[in-house]
Amino acid sequence: MSSSGTPSIALLGEQINAVLADPATTHGLARSLRAAAKEIELHGHHHASRRAWPNGRIDDKPAKVQIGGGAHRVDGFFNIDLVPPADLLWDVREGLPLQDNSTNEIFSEHFLEHIDYPRSVKHYVREAHRVLVPGGRITTGVPDAAFALHQYLGPLNATDETIERWYAKRDCRGDINTRLDLVNLVFRDQDDDPTYTPHLWAYDYEKLVQLFTEAGFTTVEPWTFDPALANPKRRWGSVYVVAAK
Ligand SMILES: C[S@@+](CC[C@H](N)C(=O)[O-])C[C@H]1O[C@@H](n2cnc3c(N)ncnc32)[C@H](O)[C@@H]1O
Repeated sequence: MSSSGTPSIALLGEQINAVLADPATTHGLARSLRAAAKEIELHGHHHASRRAWPNGRIDDKPAKVQIGGGAHRVDGFFNIDLVPPADLLWDVREGLPLQDNSTNEIFSEHFLEHIDYPRSVKHYVREAHRVLVPGGRITTGVPDAAFALHQYLGPLNATDETIERWYAKRDCRGDINTRLDLVNLVFRDQDDDPTYTPHLWAYDYEKLVQLFTEAGFTTVEPWTFDPALANPKRRWGSVYVVAAK
């Protein structure tokens, strides 16, 4: 039985693994199945937590919450992520596991572009509005699509520097080396790596302002990068906003 309590999901996972192990499986089918296998694993993490909190709300009321911190957890923040290490493994596409009007501050960076727009993004932003106290603030940073588009018009060496700064750790430099490759990466980074979640939508300042305003936030302003809170490697080519409820 799977951790969601659904035997068919466990069976599906086994069947996918068997098909993936078959050398006759085509590249296209394998790509789709790897994505499905990953979602099955995340579904398991989410439902394990959901069993502990069946009504979808934890008892605690953390004053500061970080979403999608990955390995860059911020001290003093309760971290919610799909995968370890996190204080709570939770798929925020299903909503935020927090009580109404209970949190002063939410922080995320390089997370929003990994969930599907509009369904999950708009749901997440509405949920953030629900859980923040009046006057509470949410700070959000994402890769800046306007930055990448601007670079498209500039000299190739500037694009090269951006690719180096954003993707130096990944073995992609042989394939990602033109201005348009950089634009493609911001909009549709689909690295076929099961440890990586692809980019599903791109953002700029205007789009972020629209999202938070539409969800009922009273102000949305640029956020001045603070390396005490944000991941220093995100300073280059990112856009951050802070919205107040
Ligand atoms: C690119 S990493 C960024 C990590 C960190 N914020 C940083 O800037 O280095 C994206 C993070 O968002 C998390 N994430 C993606 N989708 C999520 C979801 N639906 N629910 C919770 N976390 C999610 C991923 O697991 C990952 O840790």
